[in-house]
Amino acid sequence: MPETGDVTVERARDVHSYANLDEVRVTHVELDLTVLFEERQLRAAAMLSFERVGDDADVLVLDTRDLHITAVESWSALGGFDPATYAIGMPDPVLGSPLTITLPPDATRVRVTYETSPDASGLQWLLPEQTGGGEHPFMFTQSQAIHARSWIPLQDSPGVRVTYGARVKTPDGLRAVMSAGNDPNGPLDGSYRFDMPQPIPSYLIALAVGELDFRALGDRAGVYAEPSLILAAESEFEDTAAMIEVAEQLYGPYRWDRYDLLVLPPSFPFGGMENPRLTFATPTILAGDKSLVALVAHELAHSWSGNLVTNATWRDFWLNEGFTVYIERRIVEALYGRARADMEGVLGVEALNFDLERLDSSDTVLHINLDGRDPDEGMTQVAYEKGALFLRQLEELVGRTEFDRFLRGYFNHFSFQSITTADFEAYLRENLLVTDASSSRVAVDEWLRGFGIPEGASMPSSDAFTLVEEQVAYWVGGDRTAASLEVAGWTTFEWLHFLAQLPQSLSTSQLAELDQAFELTSSGNAEIVHQWLLITIRNAYLPTRDRLERYLLDIGRRKLVLPLYQAMAETADGRSLAMNIYRQARPGYHPITANSVDAVLGWSE
Ligand code: BES
Ligand code: ZN
Repeated sequence: MPETGDVTVERARDVHSYANLDEVRVTHVELDLTVLFEERQLRAAAMLSFERVGDDADVLVLDTRDLHITAVESWSALGGFDPATYAIGMPDPVLGSPLTITLPPDATRVRVTYETSPDASGLQWLLPEQTGGGEHPFMFTQSQAIHARSWIPLQDSPGVRVTYGARVKTPDGLRAVMSAGNDPNGPLDGSYRFDMPQPIPSYLIALAVGELDFRALGDRAGVYAEPSLILAAESEFEDTAAMIEVAEQLYGPYRWDRYDLLVLPPSFPFGGMENPRLTFATPTILAGDKSLVALVAHELAHSWSGNLVTNATWRDFWLNEGFTVYIERRIVEALYGRARADMEGVLGVEALNFDLERLDSSDTVLHINLDGRDPDEGMTQVAYEKGALFLRQLEELVGRTEFDRFLRGYFNHFSFQSITTADFEAYLRENLLVTDASSSRVAVDEWLRGFGIPEGASMPSSDAFTLVEEQVAYWVGGDRTAASLEVAGWTTFEWLHFLAQLPQSLSTSQLAELDQAFELTSSGNAEIVHQWLLITIRNAYLPTRDRLERYLLDIGRRKLVLPLYQAMAETADGRSLAMNIYRQARPGYHPITANSVDAVLGWSE
């Protein structure tokens, strides 16, 4: 625990990195990457510039996973490149292998030449038939939380920030884009150069290569997507520039130059990933009616919470995600109104309660202990929604004007730094909860280290949802048929709440009635279809089987597919269906999604 006063503040240790951060800190990464689709490999060299922190720093320890290292050299201003002595440690299933490089006294850089594994955990390689266009291959990285080490040997800790540059070679005609400066008008000649002049943590280094078109969304925003999706993406994301303006008014200038989006193929394992200057997004949010663009607000919000002020270790992950969900809702409220923000808030609390019922109580704290575990285990609604509820509570306590001022100050004060929960807590007590009265009115310690949701927390509520609940009650009570329910004007959120409120057990004829009245099976909204398929699996409803199979074959977003496999695995029949579908779907899934589904189904190759 850090202490204040004259005692030295001990920086929190990152248990998910082998790096000797007390001795050496890498400051710049210079990459040379050749993208080999046939081999499913990056052939690469990484030159790392570093500073010595300790007096007797004679080794540099890097994180790696499954890298085939062919050369390690050190560089000094006096002697140029020299072969270096190095050792690769035994692989740990979560952390990978340490690469320990002996540093000559005058060395200021090292260069590692290597190839990635075809099964690198941070890369996905797609065949042409797995893309929208069907003609060109596609590849992309996903570095958060600790997968950067599977494609770059580096200090893979969010407590370290680096600038980076990269030269990328691709087959002709394909476009490479990175979480760096991108030139939408550059020639597609297979040779690309990138610079990221702002220091970022390693989990934000990102690359994608494929057949990509670009459309501007104003002067400083735009979208990249495969040609078949570019128009849909352009219209879905037309509010992006307005979102940036709203966020700037609330929290200060956007510090990253451009804000572009990249729509990935449907196997992208997450909804979105806040890679700086270039958010990566799943195509499943292209609903046609902007109903799922809170995800853009979310990833944009990370430009302040996460990318500018970063969690120093993965146990501080709630600092990234809790703040971001809070800001996401503020952007949604400013742009689409309070009613929509409230609905999204209530849906968030429903998701939180679902997780709280299943998690060990020790994992329901914000400042979670992840020692000896994969940091992805901390990726629950606790970090997101409990974190956001905490900030909401603080806002309520001091008022919105004051809280906005506090957050603006926080982002400024810690900009381009990685901080711990204790750093936040100290700043909070010094800058917001300054009087004894205010600090006694919010149980900060209980929020950070207590289980579940603190007693008396202020929770979002939605009038629109009260009306939805009435309609559910009419139908369940037999007072009205589905077709005669008052659903006119319902948006995606009302539908999601409607589906969530239905009784667990429904008869075949009830399900058929719902589907006939509301055409749920043929909905083009991936979230609505997801909720509906869950219900039909639980009730062994056969008419949606084809839709279920198509959904699981088309989409690889973990949040959407994993619960469907989990629900199927509950019964013997469902389980064998799940196995059959998974056998076909697995080759198209990203390693992150496949690993999670493997665990649910007890799958082994
Ligand atoms: N940074 C996360 C995604 C992430 C977290 C990847 C942890 C790997 C490890 C991103 O900002 C995120 O939260 N995405 C959400 C969408 C959001 C609207 C809640 C997702 O992908 O579902
Ligand atoms: Zn996020």
